[in-house]
Amino acid sequence: MLKPNYVHIIDHPLVQHKLSLLRKKETSTNKFRSLMRELSLLLGYEVTRNFKTTLETIETPMTTMDAPFLMRPKPALISILRAGNGILDGMLELLPSAKVGHIGLYRQENANSIVEYYFKVPDDIASRDVLVLDPMLATGQSAVIAVNRLKKKCSRQIFFVCILAAPEGIEYFHSVHPDVPIYTASVDERLNEKNYILPGLGDAGDRLYGTQ
Ligand code: URA
Repeated sequence: MLKPNYVHIIDHPLVQHKLSLLRKKETSTNKFRSLMRELSLLLGYEVTRNFKTTLETIETPMTTMDAPFLMRPKPALISILRAGNGILDGMLELLPSAKVGHIGLYRQENANSIVEYYFKVPDDIASRDVLVLDPMLATGQSAVIAVNRLKKKCSRQIFFVCILAAPEGIEYFHSVHPDVPIYTASVDERLNEKNYILPGLGDAGDRLYGTQ
């Protein structure tokens, strides 16, 4: 079991280089998408570091051996729409047998409350570890709601994977879910008055899909 309250900052130089390119305002939509995919591969490598393996006998061209394979069932990847899909693509390359779910949430104008408009996760999620994917952990409200929902169905380890996190979001998220480790490429300075992360990278969904 991982230490509770744990924030893993992936400070590998390749991750930091790609993150700096991702942040730049002149980075095109096309480039932004491919950087997000590359960062997801590198973050995925770290998140899966402690995944268990099991030995199966295989034949190499030379001999037989007991070789390690990832334990089944493979994890479920849960994308928080829509920006989570930017991380999902890279994660699926690493874990092609993972099952995938989606959670759609939006903030209700004026009411300052978050509404769920979509929830579809694999039927057998109870027996799978879960990686929740959302590039931006800003206030932490969506992340908390998503994990609340998932905990009703999943009894295994849940991980939260993002590209950027704000200190405010980490604090709130871990006040509710201290058992869910956060994997991120950076903890930025703070939120602005509109709850965007500073220095940040802007609106991740808009930059991924060219809707800004
Ligand atoms: N969501 C984003 O896309 N960007 C932020 O800075 C905060 C939340």
